[in-house]
Amino acid sequence: MTGNKQVVRAALAAGVLTAASLGAVAVAGSASAAQSPDRPTTRIVGGTVAHTADTPWAVALNNSGSPSPSGQWCGSTLVKADKIVTAAHCAQEAVSTYTAIQGRDVLTQSAGKTSRIASISVDPEYGKSPAHDVAVMTLATPFDGVDTLPLNTDKTADAAGAASVVYGWGSTEGTGPEDTFQKVDVPVLGDAYCGKAYASEGYTADGEICAGYEEGGKDSCQGDSGGPLVLNGRLFGVVSWGVGCADAGNPGVYAEVATYAAELQAQIDS
Ligand code: ARG
Repeated sequence: MTGNKQVVRAALAAGVLTAASLGAVAVAGSASAAQSPDRPTTRIVGGTVAHTADTPWAVALNNSGSPSPSGQWCGSTLVKADKIVTAAHCAQEAVSTYTAIQGRDVLTQSAGKTSRIASISVDPEYGKSPAHDVAVMTLATPFDGVDTLPLNTDKTADAAGAASVVYGWGSTEGTGPEDTFQKVDVPVLGDAYCGKAYASEGYTADGEICAGYEEGGKDSCQGDSGGPLVLNGRLFGVVSWGVGCADAGNPGVYAEVATYAAELQAQIDS
């Protein structure tokens, strides 16, 4: 099973989410703040603090089975008042275990709106063929009046150098507080780069986006999965997987929304 991308992705989602969340909360969360006052106030990995008031369509997807006391699990994007797009690997638990949270910057606090999930539609090809790490969830209580993000439908938008931004409440690997909304600029590196970097993991040029920095330092991380990669005001990618976080030569891989836009739109309209 090793070398299979589904296994890599599942391990990152479940195993490392557990380890990273617990480790960060127990060790880095207190140690970095208390013992390194001169540490740059970076977030995500190498990013900056963000505010959901500026990006109201960025919706946290909590789960009652999360190892984090806050319930932090994954990210998602509001694409219609009652529809969120997330990663397929974030959507494998029972529907009753999820809570979508809109407008809450710090997940240990209580601001914002919440909704249970009424139903989940995972890409039917997920786990059978490479990539396809996308799912649509229907909210039990629509987030009426909240700005939504349109899908990117341009398959050529992932050319190297495109200036995309990723958002999430995931692990900072000790570079900032956990459970706190953050963003980081991650330029597209291009399919050729990840095709080589992830030759053994299996990178799918048609269906995935490779974004980040060859030298590392800035990246999405465990717990950011399912959240938005944004380009020109559109949902461009969905946080999917990577080897480690922010390590040189191992950039982030994102599900390519344009590839799945038709099926996603059909679910959104249903
Ligand atoms: N699979 C991870 C999650 O479930 C996301 C990993 C993203 N990794 C990266 N290096 N960009 O949260």
